[in-house]
Amino acid sequence: MKKFLLLCATLLLSVAVASSQPLLTRDNIPEVVKAMTIQEKALLLVGIQMNKGGFAGKYLEGTGGATYPFEKYGIPSIVLMDGPVGIRLSEQNRTTCFPTGLLSASSWDKNMVYTLGEAIGEECLDMGCDVILGPGMNLLRNPLNGRNFEYFSEDPVLCGQIAAAFVNGVQSKGVGTSAKHFAANNQETNRLDCDSRVSERALRELYLKAFEICIRESDPWTVMSSYNYLNGEYTQESHWLLTEVLRHEWGWNGLVMTDWTGRRNTPRQIHAGSDLLMGGNPSQTAHILESLENGSLSMSDLDLAVTRVLELIVKTPAFRGNKPSLSPDLKAHAQTARDAASEGMVLLKNNGVLPVSGCRAALYGVYSYDLIQGGNGAALVYSPYVSQINDAFASAGFSIDAKLEKLYKSYASFISEDLLTNHKVNVHLGNAQKPELDIDKSLIENTEKNSDIAFITFGRVSGEARDRIHDTDFLLQQKEKALLENVCNIYHKAGKKVVVILNICGPIETASWKDLPDAILCAWLPGEEGGNAIADLVTGKKNPSGRLPMTFPVSYFDAAGSEDFPYDFVSNKANESVVHPERRGLPLKNIAFTDYTEGIYVGYRYFCTQNKPVSFPFGYGLSYTSFSYSKPMVKLKKGRVEASICVTNTGSVSGKEAVGLYIKAAPGSFSDKPDKELKAFAKTPELAPGQSYTLTMSFPLSDLSSYNDTKARWERAKGRYRVYFGADVLNPEAESGFNL
Ligand code: GLC
Repeated sequence: MKKFLLLCATLLLSVAVASSQPLLTRDNIPEVVKAMTIQEKALLLVGIQMNKGGFAGKYLEGTGGATYPFEKYGIPSIVLMDGPVGIRLSEQNRTTCFPTGLLSASSWDKNMVYTLGEAIGEECLDMGCDVILGPGMNLLRNPLNGRNFEYFSEDPVLCGQIAAAFVNGVQSKGVGTSAKHFAANNQETNRLDCDSRVSERALRELYLKAFEICIRESDPWTVMSSYNYLNGEYTQESHWLLTEVLRHEWGWNGLVMTDWTGRRNTPRQIHAGSDLLMGGNPSQTAHILESLENGSLSMSDLDLAVTRVLELIVKTPAFRGNKPSLSPDLKAHAQTARDAASEGMVLLKNNGVLPVSGCRAALYGVYSYDLIQGGNGAALVYSPYVSQINDAFASAGFSIDAKLEKLYKSYASFISEDLLTNHKVNVHLGNAQKPELDIDKSLIENTEKNSDIAFITFGRVSGEARDRIHDTDFLLQQKEKALLENVCNIYHKAGKKVVVILNICGPIETASWKDLPDAILCAWLPGEEGGNAIADLVTGKKNPSGRLPMTFPVSYFDAAGSEDFPYDFVSNKANESVVHPERRGLPLKNIAFTDYTEGIYVGYRYFCTQNKPVSFPFGYGLSYTSFSYSKPMVKLKKGRVEASICVTNTGSVSGKEAVGLYIKAAPGSFSDKPDKELKAFAKTPELAPGQSYTLTMSFPLSDLSSYNDTKARWERAKGRYRVYFGADVLNPEAESGFNL
C-alpha cells in the first residue's frame, strides 16, 4: 500500500511540476524564458552534435544542424539544412538539384526565382527542414571566388532583389531561410581568419546594401553571420554589424545564426547579436555558463538570444507539427528546375547558327558527357539524376556521333577514378575539375565527315573553402585551346558551324577566343535538368533571355582590386581556410587580410566609369528575337522613383526581355561617383512577335544616396539625374531623367 501511495504522490508531483511549466506558444515566450533554467538556455543557444549522444540517428544523414529540444516546454528541435540550390542530404535521400545562384540571377526574373523558392520550400516540408541555409548572397567582388556559383551578382540591387525573391518563395511555404554570409565574405581562402578590409562607403553602398535590400523586400527569418573578420573584428562578434546596422538601422528582428565554427569568443558573439551558435559543440554551452558566472555575459543578452530562438521556433514547420513525407515531388520539381535553367542561361554569341535541331551533331569536350550540375561544398545536392547534354540532344532529335560519345564517356569515368585514387585530389564535398581529353586532328577530321555541326563544352567547377586560380582556371587550358582551334579550323573549312557551351561556376577568359566559334551559350551550373535546358535553347524550343549578372573582363587583371585577391594561391588542402598564416609562413596579403582597394568600383561600376573595354558587359545577353522600347515615363511619387516603359517584340519568334533601370546620379558634394548604377529591373512575360508589354519599376529615393565616409552619413545630391533603360549596361535603349 505504501508503495502505491508513494507512486501516486510522485505522479501527482510530476504532473504538478509539469503543469507548472508553461508550454510554448506564439504568445507566451517571455513566460517560457522566465521558466527556463540557465543550463537549459545555454543548451538552446548552441547547435546539437548531430550524430552524438542521444541524437545519433535522429536526423537524416547530411542534415546541416539542429537545435536542442525541451519536451517539458513543448519546444521541438528545429532542423537546418543546406543549401541555396536545393536540400543537401545524402545518396540515400535524393532531392532536386535546382540551378545555381548565378543562373538564377542571370534570369533577371524575380517571378522565376520565387517559383524556384516555392519548390525548395515544398521539399523542405517533405524532408523535415525548418530553415534552408540559403540564399548565399555575397557580392561577386572578384571573378575567382570559389563560391561565386552560389551567389548572384557584382551588383547589390540585382543580388538583393533576386535573394529576396528566393526568400519570399521559400517562406511562402512556411519554411525559413538564412541570408548568408553576413558580411563581406568574398573569398574562400583562409575564410575563417581572413580580415576583409573594406571602406565604410563600399560596405554600405555595395556589400551591406545587397543584404539591406533583401531584408527590406523579403524579411528572411534568419541571417547567417560569416566566418571572416571585417575591418579587424569577427563579424560573428561585431555588435556594430549584427545589432546596430542589422537591427537598429534596418529594423530587422529575426534571428542571427553563426556560420559553422566554434572558434570564437562566445559571450562576445551573443552580446554582438549572434543568437544561435552553429554547428555547435558542448564547449560553447559550457563557455556560456562560465561567462554568466564571471559576468562576461549578461543575463539580459542571454535572454534576448533565447527569446529570438523561441520566436524562430514558433514559426517553424516542426512547431506546427509538420510530418515529413520523405518523398518530395521530384518529377514536378525537375520541371521547375528545367524551366528555371533555360531562363537564366545567357546566349553570348550567335552568328545565326542557333537555333538548330534534327541533324548530326558531334559533341566535343568531357563536360558534354559529364555536366557539372552544381558546385562543391554546402551547396552540393545529391540529385536523383543529371540530365547530360549528349542524352538531352539525342532526345531532342540530334543524332549524336557514337564514336566520340564512347571515347569521351569512357574518359570521363576513367578520369574521375584517376583523380581520386592516383592524384588524391581532395575536394570538400563534391567533384574535382576534370582535365580536358587530348584528341588529335585526325579524329576530328574523320568525325567531321559524319557530322553537320560541332558542339564543344568547357566546364569549370569550384566550391566552398577554395578559390579559383587564374592561370589554371580563369584561362582556357592548352588542351582546351587546341581542341577549340582544331575543331573550328576543320569544321569551318568544311563550311560547318561550331557552338561552344560554357558549363562554368563563374566568369572565365573569353576575349582571346570568342571570335573562333559561331555561337557561345553560357549555361552556368544549371542543376539536374541542365542538359535538357541547354537542348531547349539550342533547338529553339525556348528562346534565350538570360543576361549576365557580372562583367566578363578582357583580362582578369583589368579589374580594379584584381591583385587584392588570392588569385594565385594554390591551396593543397581542401579546406585551406583553417590554415593560420603565421603557422605556415604564408604571405599575409590576401590570406590573413584582403584590402578592398577598389572601394565601390566593383565590376561595371569600374569598367564604365573608366571607359575600359570588357569582353562581355554586365547585363549582356542575346535573344533569337529583337525588341524595341517606347519613350519611358519617370516620376517621383511619395519618396519613390517610379518608371514605366513599353517593350515590343519586333522579331519573328516569341521571347522575353529583361530591362535594367540605371541611374547616373547628380554629382553633389562627391568627387567620385560611378558612371551609372542599377537601381531597378524587370522582365517581360513571353511576348509573341509584335506583342507589347509595359514594364513598371520603382525604388525608394534613399537608394539614390551615396555614403559620405568622412561625415558618416548618407547624402543625396540635388540636381539632374539621368535614367537609362536597357539590358546591358553599355548600350541603353532609352533615356530619361528627373531633377531632385
Ligand atoms: C559552411 C558554409 C555555410 C553552410 C554551413 C553549414 O561552412 O560556409 O554556407 O551553410 O557551413 O553547412
